[in-house]
Amino acid sequence: MAMLNLQSVLVTGANRGIGLELVKQLVGKSHQIFATCRDPEGPRGAVRKLGILAHTNHKHKNFLFVAVDASEPSSIRAAAAKVTERLKGAGLNLLINNAGIVKPGDLESTTPEVMSELYNTNVIGPLMVSQVFLPLLRKAAQGSPQKGMSCSKAAIINMSSEGGSITNLLLWESAPVIAYRCSKAALNMLTRCQGLGLAEDKILCIALHPGWVQTDMGAEADPPQTVQSCVQDILNTLSRLSEKDSGMFMNWEGKAIPW
Ligand SMILES: NC(=O)c1ccc[n+]([C@@H]2O[C@H](COP(=O)([O-])OP(=O)(O)OC[C@H]3O[C@@H](n4cnc5c(N)ncnc54)[C@H](OP(=O)(O)O)[C@@H]3O)[C@@H](O)[C@H]2O)c1
Repeated sequence: MAMLNLQSVLVTGANRGIGLELVKQLVGKSHQIFATCRDPEGPRGAVRKLGILAHTNHKHKNFLFVAVDASEPSSIRAAAAKVTERLKGAGLNLLINNAGIVKPGDLESTTPEVMSELYNTNVIGPLMVSQVFLPLLRKAAQGSPQKGMSCSKAAIINMSSEGGSITNLLLWESAPVIAYRCSKAALNMLTRCQGLGLAEDKILCIALHPGWVQTDMGAEADPPQTVQSCVQDILNTLSRLSEKDSGMFMNWEGKAIPW
C-alpha cells in the first residue's frame, strides 16, 4: 500500500475531534505538522492536547501550533506568514480544511444569522484558507519531482459531509440541519471548482465525508465510527489518491459519493 510521505501538512480545527486525531496520526508521516486552531494556548487549545507529547517525544518535535480562526481573514493571513517563515522557502504539501460547525434548525426555524454563520465558517473559511495558502501549495507542486498529483505532492482536502449530498441527504429524518446541509453542498461545489481551476497547477482537490464519527459534533446519537478508525481510514485513502480523483466527493474509504 502507498504511504503518505509528506514534508508538510496543515490542519485546521486541530484541537479536538477529527482534526486532533489527524495531527496525532500524521506523526511519522509528515516532517512538519502545522496544528492550527482558534486559540492554541487556551484551555481548549491544541497546545494543551498535544503539547506534552510535543515536548517529551522526539517524534513530535516538528509540531508548530498556529492560531487560525477560519472565519477571520486577518488570522489566516497571520498564520500563513508564520508557516511561510517556518518552511524556509519550501512549499506546503497538504492542506486539510477540517474546521467546521453545525447548528440545529429545520426549514421553519433556520434563521438568516445561522445560515450566514455556517456559510462563513464552512464555505468562506475553506475558500479563504485555500486562497491564502495557495502560493505555498503551488511551490510544493512545482518543487516536487513526482509526476501527476498526490497528497504527498500538493493537495487541498475539504472536510465535507454526506449530509450535503443533494442525492443522499444523509440522516435527513433525524437531523434536518438545513444550514449545515446547504453549507456542505456549497463546499462541495467549491471543491469541484478548485479541482478544475487548480488542475494545471497539479494541486489535487477533494471533498471528503469522514463518516458518522464519535466526536463532539457527531455524538448526538450513536455514531458507528470511532475517531481513531475514521482517521486511519482517511489517511489510507489520502495515500492512494491520484490525478483521476481530483475534484471528486468521496467517503473515508475513497468511495465516490453522488453530489
Ligand atoms: N463527526 C461527524 O460525524 C462528521 C460527519 C460529517 C462531517 N464532519 C465534518 O468533519 C469536520 C470535523 O468535525 P468534528 O466531528 O471533528 O467536529 P468537532 O468535534 O465539533 O470539532 C470541530 C473543530 O472545528 C473547529 N472550528 C470550528 N469553527 C472554527 C473556526 N471558525 N476556526 C477554526 N476552527 C474552527 C473547532 O474548534 P473550537 O474548539 O475552537 O470550536 C474544532 O476544532 C467538520 O468539518 C465536520 O463538518 C464530521
